[in-house]
Amino acid sequence: MSAQNQIRRMTAPEITARKGKEPIVCLTAYDTPTALILDEHCDLILVGDSLGMVVHGLVTTVGVTLDMMIMHGQAVMRGSQKAMVVVDLPFGYYEDSPERAFRNAARVMCETGCQAVKIESGSHAAATISYLVERGIPVMSHVGLRPQSMNVLGGFRARGRTQKVADEIIESSVAAAGAGSFAVVVEGVSAELADKVTAAVDIPTIGIGASAGCDGQILVTPDMLGMFDRTPKFVKKYAGLKDIIETAVKSYRDEVRSRSFPSDAQTYKFRK
Ligand code: KIV
Repeated sequence: MSAQNQIRRMTAPEITARKGKEPIVCLTAYDTPTALILDEHCDLILVGDSLGMVVHGLVTTVGVTLDMMIMHGQAVMRGSQKAMVVVDLPFGYYEDSPERAFRNAARVMCETGCQAVKIESGSHAAATISYLVERGIPVMSHVGLRPQSMNVLGGFRARGRTQKVADEIIESSVAAAGAGSFAVVVEGVSAELADKVTAAVDIPTIGIGASAGCDGQILVTPDMLGMFDRTPKFVKKYAGLKDIIETAVKSYRDEVRSRSFPSDAQTYKFRK
Protein backbone atom coordinates (compact mmCIF):
# COMPACT_ATOMS: atom_id res chain seq x y z
CA MET A 1 0.00 0.00 0.00
CA SER A 2 1.20 3.51 -0.71
CA ALA A 3 1.24 6.25 1.87
CA GLN A 4 0.67 8.73 -0.92
CA ASN A 5 -2.74 10.20 -1.56
CA GLN A 6 -2.71 9.33 -5.26
CA ILE A 7 -5.08 10.42 -8.00
CA ARG A 8 -5.25 7.40 -10.30
CA ARG A 9 -3.72 7.74 -13.74
CA MET A 10 -5.11 6.24 -16.91
CA THR A 11 -3.56 2.78 -17.39
CA ALA A 12 -2.39 0.78 -20.41
CA PRO A 13 -5.32 -1.70 -20.17
CA GLU A 14 -7.76 1.24 -20.01
CA ILE A 15 -6.23 2.70 -23.18
CA THR A 16 -6.48 -0.71 -24.89
CA ALA A 17 -10.13 -1.01 -23.82
CA ARG A 18 -10.92 2.17 -25.76
CA LYS A 19 -10.45 0.33 -29.08
CA GLY A 20 -13.37 1.33 -31.30
CA LYS A 21 -14.91 3.45 -28.55
CA GLU A 22 -14.42 7.09 -27.46
CA PRO A 23 -11.38 8.41 -29.37
CA ILE A 24 -8.18 8.64 -27.33
CA VAL A 25 -6.79 12.16 -26.93
CA CYS A 26 -2.98 12.27 -26.92
CA LEU A 27 -0.43 15.09 -27.13
CA THR A 28 3.30 15.37 -26.54
CA ALA A 29 4.82 17.28 -23.64
CA TYR A 30 8.38 17.81 -22.54
CA ASP A 31 8.15 20.05 -19.47
CA THR A 32 6.18 20.55 -16.26
CA PRO A 33 4.17 23.71 -17.15
CA THR A 34 2.88 22.16 -20.39
CA ALA A 35 2.04 18.87 -18.66
CA LEU A 36 0.10 20.82 -16.01
CA ILE A 37 -2.11 22.27 -18.76
CA LEU A 38 -2.51 19.09 -20.84
CA ASP A 39 -3.17 16.69 -17.98
CA GLU A 40 -6.83 17.61 -17.53
CA HIS A 41 -7.63 17.19 -21.22
CA CYS A 42 -5.53 14.28 -22.46
CA ASP A 43 -5.84 10.55 -21.90
CA LEU A 44 -2.18 10.04 -22.74
CA ILE A 45 0.83 12.35 -22.74
CA LEU A 46 3.81 11.26 -24.81
CA VAL A 47 7.29 12.45 -23.95
CA GLY A 48 8.32 12.02 -27.56
CA ASP A 49 11.86 12.04 -28.84
CA SER A 50 10.56 14.82 -31.10
CA LEU A 51 11.90 16.88 -28.18
CA GLY A 52 15.28 16.64 -29.91
CA MET A 53 13.89 18.77 -32.73
CA VAL A 54 11.25 20.97 -31.11
CA VAL A 55 13.05 21.69 -27.81
CA HIS A 56 16.76 21.13 -28.46
CA GLY A 57 17.01 22.31 -32.09
CA LEU A 58 18.38 19.06 -33.53
CA VAL A 59 17.76 18.36 -37.21
CA THR A 60 16.44 14.83 -36.55
CA THR A 61 15.58 12.69 -33.51
CA VAL A 62 18.64 10.51 -34.07
CA GLY A 63 20.88 12.39 -31.63
CA VAL A 64 18.48 12.21 -28.68
CA THR A 65 19.93 10.40 -25.65
CA LEU A 66 18.33 8.30 -22.92
CA ASP A 67 19.38 10.89 -20.33
CA MET A 68 17.49 13.60 -22.26
CA MET A 69 14.37 11.42 -22.31
CA ILE A 70 14.66 10.73 -18.60
CA MET A 71 15.10 14.39 -17.68
CA HIS A 72 12.06 15.48 -19.73
CA GLY A 73 10.08 12.44 -18.54
CA GLN A 74 10.65 13.47 -14.93
CA ALA A 75 9.49 17.01 -15.70
CA VAL A 76 6.27 15.77 -17.35
CA MET A 77 5.53 13.38 -14.49
CA ARG A 78 5.84 16.29 -12.04
CA GLY A 79 3.19 18.21 -13.99
CA SER A 80 0.64 15.43 -14.48
CA GLN A 81 -1.56 13.32 -12.26
CA LYS A 82 -4.29 11.77 -14.42
CA ALA A 83 -3.02 11.16 -17.93
CA MET A 84 -1.00 8.09 -18.78
CA VAL A 85 2.60 9.17 -19.44
CA VAL A 86 4.58 7.30 -22.09
CA VAL A 87 8.27 8.01 -22.77
CA ASP A 88 9.97 7.27 -26.11
CA LEU A 89 13.03 5.04 -26.14
CA PRO A 90 15.45 6.97 -28.35
CA PHE A 91 17.43 5.68 -31.34
CA GLY A 92 20.26 3.30 -30.47
CA TYR A 93 19.01 2.22 -27.03
CA TYR A 94 16.74 -0.74 -27.85
CA GLU A 95 17.17 -2.10 -31.36
CA ASP A 96 20.06 -4.53 -30.94
CA SER A 97 18.73 -6.82 -28.23
CA PRO A 98 15.61 -7.33 -26.11
CA GLU A 99 17.86 -7.46 -23.02
CA ARG A 100 19.35 -4.04 -23.68
CA ALA A 101 15.90 -2.68 -24.50
CA PHE A 102 14.69 -4.00 -21.13
CA ARG A 103 17.57 -2.45 -19.18
CA ASN A 104 17.04 0.95 -20.80
CA ALA A 105 13.23 0.82 -20.60
CA ALA A 106 13.44 -0.21 -16.93
CA ARG A 107 15.78 2.73 -16.26
CA VAL A 108 13.29 5.10 -17.90
CA MET A 109 10.37 3.64 -15.90
CA CYS A 110 12.26 3.66 -12.56
CA GLU A 111 13.83 7.11 -12.90
CA THR A 112 10.78 8.92 -14.29
CA GLY A 113 7.85 6.98 -12.81
CA CYS A 114 6.21 6.90 -16.28
CA GLN A 115 3.86 4.04 -17.10
CA ALA A 116 5.09 2.82 -20.48
CA VAL A 117 7.64 3.26 -23.22
CA LYS A 118 7.19 3.71 -26.97
CA ILE A 119 9.40 2.13 -29.58
CA GLU A 120 9.47 2.59 -33.32
CA SER A 121 8.64 -0.87 -34.52
CA GLY A 122 9.61 -2.34 -37.82
CA SER A 123 9.17 -6.04 -38.47
CA HIS A 124 12.15 -6.89 -36.20
CA ALA A 125 10.55 -5.43 -33.06
CA ALA A 126 8.05 -8.12 -32.02
CA ALA A 127 10.59 -10.11 -29.96
CA THR A 128 11.61 -6.97 -28.06
CA ILE A 129 7.99 -5.96 -27.43
CA SER A 130 7.03 -9.34 -25.95
CA TYR A 131 10.26 -9.44 -23.88
CA LEU A 132 9.42 -6.06 -22.33
CA VAL A 133 5.71 -6.75 -21.81
CA GLU A 134 6.39 -10.15 -20.18
CA ARG A 135 8.72 -8.36 -17.76
CA GLY A 136 6.24 -5.67 -16.74
CA ILE A 137 6.87 -2.86 -19.20
CA PRO A 138 3.85 -1.73 -21.25
CA VAL A 139 4.86 -0.90 -24.82
CA MET A 140 3.31 1.46 -27.32
CA SER A 141 4.47 0.73 -30.87
CA HIS A 142 5.02 3.19 -33.71
CA VAL A 143 4.64 2.22 -37.38
CA GLY A 144 4.51 3.95 -40.76
CA LEU A 145 6.78 6.98 -40.90
CA ARG A 146 9.38 6.16 -38.28
CA PRO A 147 11.48 9.31 -37.74
CA GLN A 148 14.38 7.38 -36.15
CA SER A 149 14.82 5.57 -39.50
CA MET A 150 14.78 8.73 -41.59
CA ASN A 151 18.37 8.13 -42.77
CA VAL A 152 17.25 4.83 -44.32
CA LEU A 153 13.88 6.14 -45.53
CA GLY A 154 15.47 9.22 -47.12
CA GLY A 155 13.58 11.89 -45.20
CA PHE A 156 10.32 12.68 -43.44
CA ARG A 157 8.08 11.38 -46.22
CA ALA A 158 4.69 9.68 -46.12
CA ARG A 159 5.03 5.89 -46.11
CA GLY A 160 3.16 3.02 -47.69
CA ARG A 161 2.77 4.31 -51.22
CA THR A 162 3.78 0.95 -52.72
CA GLN A 163 1.86 -2.24 -52.02
CA LYS A 164 5.01 -3.88 -50.62
CA VAL A 165 5.58 -1.15 -48.02
CA ALA A 166 1.85 -0.91 -47.22
CA ASP A 167 1.81 -4.68 -46.56
CA GLU A 168 4.93 -4.37 -44.38
CA ILE A 169 3.24 -1.65 -42.30
CA ILE A 170 0.14 -3.79 -41.78
CA GLU A 171 2.31 -6.82 -40.94
CA SER A 172 4.43 -4.95 -38.41
CA SER A 173 1.29 -3.49 -36.79
CA VAL A 174 -0.27 -6.95 -36.47
CA ALA A 175 3.05 -8.31 -35.12
CA ALA A 176 3.30 -5.44 -32.60
CA ALA A 177 -0.25 -6.09 -31.40
CA GLY A 178 0.36 -9.84 -31.23
CA ALA A 179 3.51 -9.26 -29.19
CA GLY A 180 1.50 -7.39 -26.55
CA SER A 181 1.66 -3.66 -27.40
CA PHE A 182 -1.17 -1.82 -25.71
CA ALA A 183 -1.57 0.68 -28.60
CA VAL A 184 0.15 1.61 -31.84
CA VAL A 185 0.98 5.03 -33.26
CA VAL A 186 0.42 5.14 -37.03
CA GLU A 187 2.32 8.04 -38.58
CA GLY A 188 2.43 9.51 -42.07
CA VAL A 189 0.41 7.01 -44.10
CA SER A 190 -2.69 7.40 -46.32
CA ALA A 191 -6.09 7.39 -44.63
CA GLU A 192 -6.89 4.20 -46.53
CA LEU A 193 -3.83 2.39 -45.15
CA ALA A 194 -4.37 3.74 -41.61
CA ASP A 195 -7.97 2.46 -41.74
CA LYS A 196 -6.71 -0.97 -42.86
CA VAL A 197 -4.28 -1.03 -39.90
CA THR A 198 -7.11 -0.01 -37.54
CA ALA A 199 -9.23 -2.88 -38.86
CA ALA A 200 -6.35 -5.37 -38.72
CA VAL A 201 -5.33 -4.92 -35.06
CA ASP A 202 -7.23 -5.44 -31.82
CA ILE A 203 -5.41 -2.56 -30.06
CA PRO A 204 -6.10 1.16 -30.52
CA THR A 205 -4.39 2.96 -33.39
CA ILE A 206 -3.24 6.49 -32.58
CA GLY A 207 -3.00 8.49 -35.78
CA ILE A 208 -0.64 11.33 -36.67
CA GLY A 209 -0.94 12.48 -40.27
CA ALA A 210 -2.90 9.27 -40.88
CA SER A 211 -6.72 9.05 -40.63
CA ALA A 212 -9.60 10.48 -38.63
CA GLY A 213 -10.77 6.87 -38.44
CA CYS A 214 -7.94 5.92 -36.04
CA ASP A 215 -8.92 5.06 -32.46
CA GLY A 216 -7.16 8.21 -31.22
CA GLN A 217 -5.00 11.08 -32.40
CA ILE A 218 -1.67 12.59 -31.37
CA LEU A 219 0.11 15.78 -32.39
CA VAL A 220 3.43 17.33 -31.45
CA THR A 221 2.21 20.04 -29.10
CA PRO A 222 4.49 22.93 -30.19
CA ASP A 223 3.37 22.23 -33.79
CA MET A 224 -0.35 22.42 -32.97
CA LEU A 225 0.20 25.51 -30.83
CA GLY A 226 1.82 27.34 -33.75
CA MET A 227 5.34 27.69 -32.34
CA PHE A 228 6.94 27.22 -35.74
CA ASP A 229 6.42 28.69 -39.21
CA ARG A 230 7.08 25.34 -40.83
CA THR A 231 5.12 22.31 -39.68
CA PRO A 232 4.03 19.14 -41.46
CA LYS A 233 1.15 19.86 -43.88
CA PHE A 234 -1.41 17.79 -41.97
CA VAL A 235 -0.98 19.78 -38.72
CA LYS A 236 -3.84 22.09 -37.84
CA LYS A 237 -2.54 25.05 -35.81
CA TYR A 238 -4.95 25.56 -32.93
CA ALA A 239 -3.10 28.68 -31.71
CA GLY A 240 -0.50 31.17 -32.87
CA LEU A 241 1.97 30.88 -30.01
CA LYS A 242 4.95 32.14 -31.98
CA ASP A 243 3.11 35.40 -32.82
CA ILE A 244 1.87 35.78 -29.24
CA ILE A 245 5.39 35.40 -27.85
CA GLU A 246 6.86 37.71 -30.48
CA THR A 247 4.28 40.44 -29.73
CA ALA A 248 4.96 40.16 -25.98
CA VAL A 249 8.74 40.25 -26.42
CA LYS A 250 8.49 43.31 -28.71
CA SER A 251 6.34 45.16 -26.14
CA TYR A 252 8.86 44.33 -23.45
CA ARG A 253 11.79 45.42 -25.63
CA ASP A 254 10.09 48.72 -26.48
CA GLU A 255 9.29 49.48 -22.84
CA VAL A 256 12.85 48.73 -21.74
CA ARG A 257 14.37 50.85 -24.50
CA SER A 258 12.00 53.80 -23.98
CA ARG A 259 12.32 53.60 -20.18
CA SER A 260 8.55 53.31 -20.01
CA PHE A 261 9.01 50.10 -18.11
CA PRO A 262 6.35 49.97 -15.33
CA SER A 263 8.60 50.93 -12.43
CA ASP A 264 6.36 49.64 -9.66
CA ALA A 265 5.65 46.26 -11.15
CA GLN A 266 9.30 45.62 -11.85
CA THR A 267 10.70 46.67 -8.52
CA TYR A 268 11.66 43.95 -6.12
CA LYS A 269 9.87 44.53 -2.83
CA PHE A 270 12.18 43.95 0.13
CA ARG A 271 10.63 42.94 3.41
CA LYS A 272 10.99 45.53 6.10
O1 KIV B 1 8.40 11.75 -30.88
C1 KIV B 1 7.19 12.04 -30.99
O2 KIV B 1 6.73 13.11 -30.61
C2 KIV B 1 6.33 11.05 -31.59
C3 KIV B 1 4.99 11.52 -32.06
C4 KIV B 1 5.16 12.20 -33.35
C5 KIV B 1 4.03 10.40 -32.14
O3 KIV B 1 6.71 9.93 -31.76
